[in-house]
Amino acid sequence: MSSKLRKAIIPVAGLGTRLLPISKAIPKEMVPVVDRPLIQHVVEEALAAGLNEIILVTRSGKSAVEDHFDGHYELEAELEKKGKTALLETLRAIAPPELKITSVRQDRALGLGHAIYCAAYLVQPDEPFAVILPDVLVKPQAGETGGDLESMVKAFEARKAVQIMVEEVPIERVDQYGIVDCQGVELAAGESTAITSLVEKPKPEAAPSRLSVIGRYILPGEIMPVLGRTQPGAGNEIQLTDAIAEIIQQGHAVEAWRMQGRTFDCGHIQGWLQANQALGQEAGLL
Ligand code: G1P
Repeated sequence: MSSKLRKAIIPVAGLGTRLLPISKAIPKEMVPVVDRPLIQHVVEEALAAGLNEIILVTRSGKSAVEDHFDGHYELEAELEKKGKTALLETLRAIAPPELKITSVRQDRALGLGHAIYCAAYLVQPDEPFAVILPDVLVKPQAGETGGDLESMVKAFEARKAVQIMVEEVPIERVDQYGIVDCQGVELAAGESTAITSLVEKPKPEAAPSRLSVIGRYILPGEIMPVLGRTQPGAGNEIQLTDAIAEIIQQGHAVEAWRMQGRTFDCGHIQGWLQANQALGQEAGLL
């Protein structure tokens, strides 16, 4: 891994079935959390971590996600004419000049590993890149600042090891996530430790720990050819987890980075409501 970390792949091709009927005609990434769509929160998180080259892996019916980051000439001209400067600034801040957005298509729903592989040709063979799953919002604890992704990028740069953000979940929920094996090391929040293996959605009795992968990864470009040959695994889908397990076998240093903030899984209605309530209250809007 020699090149600089600049790219973040954000898969947005999912159908959003857990958010129906909200997500019937609008992409689930466009549902609002407080005052902006989910995808805007996630792109802001990436930018704050220095990741300004965003690759969206998308599909038909989801163009609103890309449109959100486009200029809107008529609207801007109208706001300017009316002297609504603050609103104009808010609008322009969605896509600051350093933000570069590219999109690629995932033509079949073959799993997260396949979605990431769709962007393989945009990543140099030795170029590290981040993966951000936009269903999960990662926010600092109430009253605190500083993003976990930003801190994890620093850990990556200092340690030159692949980083996977994790948090502890109750044992009865391990079958919903990728679960890492850190050989029982007590991992403090804000620290990294080596992973010896990881497994996608294990049964509680087979789980190597309760540390779950939350959807923030810093991966080496070398994982792309591995993804290209990864066979369907859990749920009959091509799993990113399985490709990471293989690069560990190949000798790549892979570490779990335990987050300090909190997560909101906005891919389902309850988590999305909780995010709006907690963050709306903290913003003084409720
Ligand atoms: C994906 C990953 C899983 C991870 C989860 C986080 O699963 O495959 O390892 O723990 O995201 O949300 P999915 O939620 O797409 O089933």
